[in-house]
Amino acid sequence: MGGQELALTGNDLIQLAKPNITDKTIDRVVQILKSGHLVQGEQVRRFETCLREYLDANHAVLVSSGTAALHLSLIALNIGPGDEVIVPAFTFPATANAVELVGAKPVLVDIGLRDFCIDAQKIEAKITSKTKAIMPVHEFGQPADMENIASIAALHNLKIIEDAACALGAEINGKMIGSFGELACFSFHPRKAITTGEGGGVATQDEEIANRLRIMRNHGIVAEKGIVDFVAAGLNYRMTDFQAALGYEQLASFDDIIAKRLEAAGIYDDLLSSIGWIQLPEKINGRKMVYQSYHVMIDATMSRDRVMASLKKSGIESNIGAYALNRLSIYRKKYNLKDVDFPNAVDAFTRGMVLPMGNHVGFKEIQSIAAALQKAGKRRR
Ligand SMILES: Cc1ncc(COP(=O)(O)O)c(C=O)c1O
Repeated sequence: MGGQELALTGNDLIQLAKPNITDKTIDRVVQILKSGHLVQGEQVRRFETCLREYLDANHAVLVSSGTAALHLSLIALNIGPGDEVIVPAFTFPATANAVELVGAKPVLVDIGLRDFCIDAQKIEAKITSKTKAIMPVHEFGQPADMENIASIAALHNLKIIEDAACALGAEINGKMIGSFGELACFSFHPRKAITTGEGGGVATQDEEIANRLRIMRNHGIVAEKGIVDFVAAGLNYRMTDFQAALGYEQLASFDDIIAKRLEAAGIYDDLLSSIGWIQLPEKINGRKMVYQSYHVMIDATMSRDRVMASLKKSGIESNIGAYALNRLSIYRKKYNLKDVDFPNAVDAFTRGMVLPMGNHVGFKEIQSIAAALQKAGKRRR
């Protein structure tokens, strides 16, 4: 690369993700910590109201993680042993793990390689008399094909739980992700656009479901006129008040957070377009992607793992995108799953890679990443 290459020292490491927490937000969290009100309380209610309004949902219920959101959603729909739930074969394992945890069977459907989300055309072949729900994942912040998925669900009387862990703010034809099914689950893990450290949320239009979620996240407690009763064997999936204050402050400036991600994605598109062995994320008509990750596919003639190792040497963090669930011991062994049935999931698992994304990634950083990728391309020759 000669003089063009930007040298990166250990201090300049470009992280995959970096929480965007302002001094104002930190001051607010300190205030809550000093107040002594730490567990679920006023701040959780405030963040819930803000989230509900943002999503245009009737109810938002905050919980301790995205995984807790998925688990509680399945519980709220009374899904359990003997039931089947359709999930994409390529996702973070929490999607299918939640189904296992309620004693139901996750039934894998392959993904499409344009959006890396469940292939709606392949869902019906997997529906049986035991199928109760479809759990589409909006992978990397790209909306799944919700219009077709909703039609299939309606035709077969199935519930939809959107795994929107990565997709707060994404839209399809102006309609918010999170409003296509009975329930939608979000994550506030530090890799996401808004973070509360750990945290999650569920959105629903249905009051009865919202009540069940609230009872089950809080030990099965119902309190009426000051009298506490335990009506179910619940969990403790509550978010703390200081986490909620963190989330509330970030949601207030969420439009700016998303705009910065879209801008970074545009710069990536420009600077990486000349590298022939990298396939860039696709823009799909009508779908607003929010780039939880900037996910690329590495040409089959290259080793994705070697590219990642080369980036690391240049001080750039990267990671695989998500997992082909059929390759994980738990699912491969339990359900005797074979690669041949999930070719796209396996392809994405072996060739996919995510690059740094967030407020800390601007033109200068992406220039360094593009240069490091060029260098990685030369190393293979
Ligand atoms: C698609 C998907 N679902 C669920 C989760 C689980 O969320 P959490 O880490 O908040 O439990 C993640 C986390 O990365 C995810 O990417």
